[in-house]
Amino acid sequence: MSKASENHWPSMEEKIRLLRQYKNEALKGGGEQRIQKMHQQGKLTARERLEVLLDEGSFEEMDMLVRHRFREFGLDKKRFWTDGVITGFGTINGRPVMVFSQDFTILGGSLSEAHARKIVKIMDIAMKIGVPVIGLNDSGGARIQEGVVSLGGYADIFLRNTLASGVIPQISAIMGPTAGGAVYSPAITDFIFMVKDKSYMFVTGPNVVKTVTHEEVSFEELGGAFTHATKSGVAHFVTENDVDCLEKIRTLMSYLPLNNAEDPPYQEPNDDPNRMDAELEQIIPDNPGKPYDVKDVIRRVVDNGVFFEVHELYAQNIVVGFARLDGYPVGVIANQPAVLAGVLDIDASIKAARFVRFCDAFNIPLLTFVDVPGFLPGTVQEWGGIIKHGAKLLYAYSEATVPKVTVILRKAYGGAYDVMSSKHIRGDFNFAWPSAEIAVMGPKGATEIIFKKEISEADDPEAYLAQKEKEYREKFANPYQAAEYGYIDDVIEPHTTRPKVIRAFRLLKTKVDHNPPKKHGNIPL
Ligand code: HXC
Repeated sequence: MSKASENHWPSMEEKIRLLRQYKNEALKGGGEQRIQKMHQQGKLTARERLEVLLDEGSFEEMDMLVRHRFREFGLDKKRFWTDGVITGFGTINGRPVMVFSQDFTILGGSLSEAHARKIVKIMDIAMKIGVPVIGLNDSGGARIQEGVVSLGGYADIFLRNTLASGVIPQISAIMGPTAGGAVYSPAITDFIFMVKDKSYMFVTGPNVVKTVTHEEVSFEELGGAFTHATKSGVAHFVTENDVDCLEKIRTLMSYLPLNNAEDPPYQEPNDDPNRMDAELEQIIPDNPGKPYDVKDVIRRVVDNGVFFEVHELYAQNIVVGFARLDGYPVGVIANQPAVLAGVLDIDASIKAARFVRFCDAFNIPLLTFVDVPGFLPGTVQEWGGIIKHGAKLLYAYSEATVPKVTVILRKAYGGAYDVMSSKHIRGDFNFAWPSAEIAVMGPKGATEIIFKKEISEADDPEAYLAQKEKEYREKFANPYQAAEYGYIDDVIEPHTTRPKVIRAFRLLKTKVDHNPPKKHGNIPL
């Protein structure tokens, strides 16, 4: 072979050099200046975020060398490697996950056809192998220069979000802007994390709002983390900063199975399953009208007092979250007497229903603590549709086939008794504390109705009412009528609660229950 023809073919060394050059370019994202801007704003870059999210050194990138193929509006001069989203897989505590992380330094993380295809690719793989998808969102929305192609890209993702729902856990972190249709992918996923002061989500931004409704509202007020955590309920978690957000996602993952055919992850417990807690007997005030914090009960029952609360700032009259019992994850739902007396209203019903359905979809048993005076009365609630929203919770508990253990701490009145995982809707083990009051309604309201005529005719109506109220309280404001009927399986002393519920869940490990075959139910939306 002549010298000339040898020179014609680049050597492997040169080819590797070229590959490294491309990959090095890709690692620089949209350039040093834009990266600096992210850091100045107190944000990590898309790649740095993945380093915190995943186990050290576990990230395997895919499609690093993808670029868009558009020429119009100057896009031909902005053909960055990765096209604004880093995708691939890695592990969290040794368990696999598929991930994407939008890179705001490249065309504002905007979603192009190529960018969407990368996300679609990892979602398709995740569904085939049964592992969660975690998306870190930081994007100016649809890549405006690409027109409908970018909208198509979003729709391709929405479809996959929907098909994956209930099959693999899907988690979204909002770490920068998420505007327009871009909000709907996170909205279909199971959990949304937002970063305080750094992220916002809205369908239309403050400028459009001003034009259409004449309201003046800031980005933060319209769609910041606190807005969505407290007002809309769109966000499940508010986090302090990027690192806090990513670490909390790791914690959440520790409770979740990789897919709906797996059991949630067991962790060797170091809390005695037979641990009794006399303090539980001091929590409920003797006066049934007085509040207490139900989280004190939860923490005293679950392993090591660790309760990972979901939706902490929204509809605080009900508490939901994950914990472990004897090493096994459980979903905890509890009425919160410290807020609005623990009443069930529209927001609380929706919050708890969604949580119950998530747990049921992913084989996470349900532990329910009940102290509920009923559904909240009033025009706001009725006109807002408490009938259909309250029905959501009823529906969610009724259709759930995972093990369900319920402890009635105090009040279980009216429809709310039925709703809160009662025996009648397939509660497996239903316990009550001696402080339980299980009846159609509270003593005062009940006696006023059933003795209306007698009260009006009595010489001393007040004394008569008080006497009847006392009789009603003795008869019904306790757990013993329900116990007589077997509607609760046992009245237990509060200090025994932990061993009692652990033994119940142990027995239920092999529980099999099915719903009738159907295409899907029609939950009252
Ligand atoms: C293309 C975009 C872009 C977009 C930002 N960029 N958004 N490029 N398409 N949607 C580019 C900018 O041109 C800029 O490029 C770089 O990203 C950084 O943007 P800045 O504006 O400099 O950043 P900042 O000041 O931080 O403002 C961020 C922002 C703003 C608030 C997100 O960029 C913005 O308002 N973007 C448009 C948001 C939007 O309306 N998107 C469409 C929503 S509708 P250079 O090269 O200068 O760095 C939608 C429909 C989806 O998404 C429907 C699905 C059903």
